[in-house]
Amino acid sequence: MTMARKKLLLGNWKMNKTPSEAKEFALGCSEMVHFAVSHGIDVGVAPTFVCLQTVVENAPKDLIIAAQNVNEHDHGAYTGEISIPMLKEIGISWVILGHSERRTYNGETSLACNAKIKALLANSMTPVYCCGETLETFEQGQTKAFVAKQIEEGFAGLSKEEAEKVVVAYEPIWAIGTGKNATKEIAEDTIASIRSVLKGLFGEQTAEKIRILYGGSVKPNNIAEYMSEKDIDGALVGGASLALDSYRGLIENLVK
Ligand code: PGA
Repeated sequence: MTMARKKLLLGNWKMNKTPSEAKEFALGCSEMVHFAVSHGIDVGVAPTFVCLQTVVENAPKDLIIAAQNVNEHDHGAYTGEISIPMLKEIGISWVILGHSERRTYNGETSLACNAKIKALLANSMTPVYCCGETLETFEQGQTKAFVAKQIEEGFAGLSKEEAEKVVVAYEPIWAIGTGKNATKEIAEDTIASIRSVLKGLFGEQTAEKIRILYGGSVKPNNIAEYMSEKDIDGALVGGASLALDSYRGLIENLVK
């Protein structure tokens, strides 16, 4: 049984843009956000923590604004961390978790993400949980098993009702920022296997509701290919989400 899942484009700004640059983007994106929304597509960006507030204040209300990480504790002695109540107070309800750069440079594990996913869901917020394999794992043909483990650990202990609120982003590490995007066939094959892992965990109805994005060198000129695949529900985009022109190009080619 196939159910319609709303398409989603999320720009991951990583450690780019000062607050004034983020504000400029927020002020300039109204028209394209309305265009996307009128075509039934969800669109958003994930600025750095210091830029979140200015984007909230200056972007159209339909733009989804996500943080790039969060701590699972509400407050306390966690130097350098940001909590869920802090994000909620400035109007943020989406958070990217487990991006490969955070796994690599900050030692973030799938089990650590699981605690954050649970904390976000308990606060009616939306986690975007990233998974993906290294080039070595890909070349050894171990992608599906590797990603399955990330999914099982990230989703551990969730109810069906909770699981369907999580967005998954499959991002092969070898495709991130390299210009070597995965072919649509590879992306679909892995994403379909993620959906079948979710089906095993939560049943078909729930698995069919979960949005799964592809990420890794998605550009205006290749985004449409992915959207033609049945299990791919959108894209998590780094480099090509930074400039207004390129972001507009992503939206225009996504709706085609
Ligand atoms: P990229 O990054 O589009 O620049 O490859 C994607 C991501 O890391 O989310």
